[in-house]
Amino acid sequence: MVYIVANWKMNKDSKQSKSLMNEIVCFDFYDSSKINVIISPPTIYLSQLKNRRSDLAAQNISNYSNGPYTGEISSKMVSEYVSYVIIGHSERRQLFCETDEIISEKINQCNNENLKSIVCFGESLESRNKSHHLDFIRKQLDNIINSYDKSSINNLILAYEPVWAIGSGNSATVQEICEVHDYTRSILNDNFGKTIGTTVPIIYGGSCTKDNAKPILANLNVNGLLIGGASLDLMHFKSIIKEANEVT
Ligand code: 13P
Repeated sequence: MVYIVANWKMNKDSKQSKSLMNEIVCFDFYDSSKINVIISPPTIYLSQLKNRRSDLAAQNISNYSNGPYTGEISSKMVSEYVSYVIIGHSERRQLFCETDEIISEKINQCNNENLKSIVCFGESLESRNKSHHLDFIRKQLDNIINSYDKSSINNLILAYEPVWAIGSGNSATVQEICEVHDYTRSILNDNFGKTIGTTVPIIYGGSCTKDNAKPILANLNVNGLLIGGASLDLMHFKSIIKEANEVT
C-alpha cells in the first residue's frame, strides 16, 4: 500500500475545503486497493468532509483524554471522523513546544482509541550540516518506537520530514531520503523482528511535488508521501496521485 497524505495545515475556508474534497473524492483513475489517499484538513472541517472514498486524518490531538483543557480536542472526539492522526509534526515540535514526552502521550491517546498515528520525525538543518542527522533522528525514533509493542505497532505510520525541506521548495534528494528510510527500517527490524518491522509504512514529506514524487516513491523503503503545499492545489495533487499510481 502507498500512502498519499495531504496535510492542509491551517489553510482553506469552509467553502474551499468542501470544494477541494468534492473534487478529490471523484478521482477514479487510481487503484484504491494500492493507494490510500488520506486528507488532513483543519479539525473544524472534519465533520463536513467525512466521506466514503478518502480517509481523513486529524492534524493534532490533545495529550490528555478529557478534562479542563480549554481549546483542546481529544482522540476520542476526532475518532468519530478520522482513522488517522498526524503526531509530532516539526511545526508542532518547534512552534508549540511539543517534547518527546508529549508526543509519546499523544501516541498513547491514539492507541487507546485504536487510531493510526502518522508520527513525524526529522533532523534540523544544523544537524544535517554537521552530518549528525542519523543521531538526531535516532533519538526521536527511539522515543516513538518505545510507545509501541507488537500488539499496537500496526497503528504506526512513520513520516520522515527533514525540517529544512518543509515548505522550502528544497526537497531532500533521493539518496538522502533512502539513507534515512533504510536506517529507520533497520531500527524497526531490530526492535520488532523483520516480519513485523517491514510492515510499518515509512513515508516522506518535505517539498514533494509532481516532479519528484515518482523518483522518491520508486524506492523500497519509501511507502508514501506527506504533502503540504502541493496538496492545496487540485491539479498538482491530482498529478502526484497519478505519478504514485504509475509506481505501484
Ligand atoms: P510541504 O510539502 O509544503 O513542504 O510541507 C510538508 C509538510 O510539512 C507536510 O506535513
